[in-house]
Amino acid sequence: MKIVLAPMEGVVDHLMRDMLTQVGGFDSCVTEFVRVVDQLLPSKVFYRLCPELHQQGLTPSGVPVKVQLLGQEPDWLAENAVRAIELGSHGVDLNFGCPAKTVNKSKGGAVLLKETEALYKIVSAVRKAVPLEHQVTAKMRLGFEDKSLAIENAQAIESAGANSLAIHARTKTEGYKPPAYWEWIGKIRQQTHIPIIANGEIWSKTDATLCQQRSQCDDIMLGRGALAMPNLAQVIRQDAQEMTWEQVKALLLTYSGYEIFGDKGRYYPNRIKQWLGYLKVQYPQAENLFLRIRALTKSADIVAVLQQP
Ligand SMILES: Cc1cc2nc3c(=O)[nH]c(=O)nc-3n(C[C@H](O)[C@H](O)[C@H](O)COP(=O)(O)O)c2cc1C
Repeated sequence: MKIVLAPMEGVVDHLMRDMLTQVGGFDSCVTEFVRVVDQLLPSKVFYRLCPELHQQGLTPSGVPVKVQLLGQEPDWLAENAVRAIELGSHGVDLNFGCPAKTVNKSKGGAVLLKETEALYKIVSAVRKAVPLEHQVTAKMRLGFEDKSLAIENAQAIESAGANSLAIHARTKTEGYKPPAYWEWIGKIRQQTHIPIIANGEIWSKTDATLCQQRSQCDDIMLGRGALAMPNLAQVIRQDAQEMTWEQVKALLLTYSGYEIFGDKGRYYPNRIKQWLGYLKVQYPQAENLFLRIRALTKSADIVAVLQQP
């Protein structure tokens, strides 16, 4: 079984990847998406979203990170994919799942799931441009409004040469609302041959086992579940004890050190509140802590509250 840490824009940045991969259990990570419109982006854009590129594309604990691209222009995506690889990305991932609306007349993400041919063209162009020893992968939802093209889309991605495909088991319209339709991944799996990574709504070991059974996939990708339970990958992989609230609090303090030091604290107050929002799914104490820091805007004040017993 492989466990991948899901890309999450504005949430799973390099500091969060560092922390969660240190906690352990992840085989690889995917970055927040890099939006590609009509140019070859400067290296600094890649380094900003993926500072691990300065360290051979590895998190400090040695887990490989793959840059994700989002866009609609096959040639520009191909050129930027080559750049990501040259800078040290461990393969490149293509985003066909993002629900965001058109930006700067540029499409990308889930809207492309309405156009099977467009998916094929993008994956083929990127696959042709990227040297074969590097993986080209994709991440899709089951569809835009409905699931009628789910299998065709996955087959197009496969026949265009993708090495693997992560599937978030919902349509764009279904958003993030439970349930995730894992059995649909199973249907796709029966009609494709590349490795498929099942994603969506895995919050516990029981969910992971059910997801694996219904999707017929060994490999899984964890997003919000890993933020709600930082050692979820270890719990799933080796039946580790779920982290106690005390352990989570220690992690919050470590993270505070990273955030304040790493990004000069600009994002810290929002990031820590956002993370507590995910943690409260598993830990009622997180809600309480959130209420205590909600009105605070200074990093030092927030850390002082975290340090209280
Ligand atoms: C805040 C947020 C940001 C996300 N950003 C991305 C992204 O940049 N690229 C992507 O492919 N998916 C993105 N996703 C989707 C997740 O990778 C994942 O497919 C989804 O959350 C379902 O998995 P989960 O139930 O384990 O969270 C995002 C999801 C959330 C909630």
